[in-house]
Amino acid sequence: MRAYYKCARCGYTADTNVWLWRCPRCGGPIDVIIEDLRLTLSEQRGLWRFAGVIPAKPLVSLGEGFTPLVKARFLGENTYLKLEYLNPTGSFKDRGSAVAVSKTAELNAKAVVEDSSGNAGISIAAYASVAGIRARIYVPRDAPEGKKSLIKALGAELIEAPSRADASKMAIGSIGSDEVYIGHTWNPWFIQGTKTLAYELVNQLGHAPTSIVLPVSAGTLLLGLFIGFNELMNMGLINELPRLFAVQVQGFAKLYEELHGEYRSEPTRIADALRVSEPPRISQMINAVKSSNGDAIVVTDDEIVRAWKYMFRSGFIIEPSSATVLSGYWRLMGNNKINRNDEVVLILTGNGLKYVDLINKYVIAESNI
Ligand SMILES: Cc1ncc(COP(=O)(O)O)c(C=O)c1O
Ligand SMILES: [Zn+2]
Repeated sequence: MRAYYKCARCGYTADTNVWLWRCPRCGGPIDVIIEDLRLTLSEQRGLWRFAGVIPAKPLVSLGEGFTPLVKARFLGENTYLKLEYLNPTGSFKDRGSAVAVSKTAELNAKAVVEDSSGNAGISIAAYASVAGIRARIYVPRDAPEGKKSLIKALGAELIEAPSRADASKMAIGSIGSDEVYIGHTWNPWFIQGTKTLAYELVNQLGHAPTSIVLPVSAGTLLLGLFIGFNELMNMGLINELPRLFAVQVQGFAKLYEELHGEYRSEPTRIADALRVSEPPRISQMINAVKSSNGDAIVVTDDEIVRAWKYMFRSGFIIEPSSATVLSGYWRLMGNNKINRNDEVVLILTGNGLKYVDLINKYVIAESNI
């Protein structure tokens, strides 16, 4: 497979035998482009079944991918839930980490630096540990304790920052000469991992669904799906792009605001995983939603808590940031963006087992938010 780096903004190109996390010429986000794309399925199970379209050596794996796709008749006749929270470290991030950390291992990196609201930090910590690479993870101070503990338990160095945005600035400012910035909000390899979700959905359903509802913050899942489905289209393996519906939360709705104008609100107090205020790949995110004929919506904390409780009662132990997709689905059904007969997939991105305190408060004691 022939792949190269390309800057979407200025056209800069480079060989992928070096580590780049952004364009060295203009500072914009950089992509990995595959020249001779052809789908051959490998014998391996999980994400690396699609090694034929992943431009990195499969050096690190924890069994990520091939998560269950379950029919949710309680929501709609053709509605499915994709249980991405059952990935090895409890979120879809493992797809991105498997590929990004494999690439750093291929390039003999000794240490990686990441900033995260929590889940990507947990995931990178695990994969780095398996690869024998040191990891330093910057998170906002108010990240859930369960997430911070997991990052430490997995052997990474945890550094707490005043906010999510500060975590990013501190991480980028701290990179030593023998370290690699793996920050997933910029990283092109991470998206080469999340794109496998598109391949997997087509593999499991036999075709592409009509619509997909997913939580969006930095957009790594949105862009992975968009790139994956576009690759499948280009290879003639599907006929139409699914409509991508991005669900955002109060105070962190950059994509929604770019499409529909300002959204004034208090920042979310419950969807801690969706707090990227300035996504580096915002232009690509706008394009993904527009050219798939999708949309972006914002759901409130009230709506999230209602959906969260409903998902617990339905047997799905997910985190609040993931419950947003059910709030979004209800809203999109209400305004006819999604129709009863559409084949719809809701991506359940993160596991709820990290949230004892909030489960006690909102699900069991039923406190108001
Ligand atoms: C559980 C969960 N869902 C969704 C997202 C959103 O992903 P992205 O920031 O790539 O848009 C995240 C990101 O942290 C997450 O942890
Ligand atoms: Zn550039």
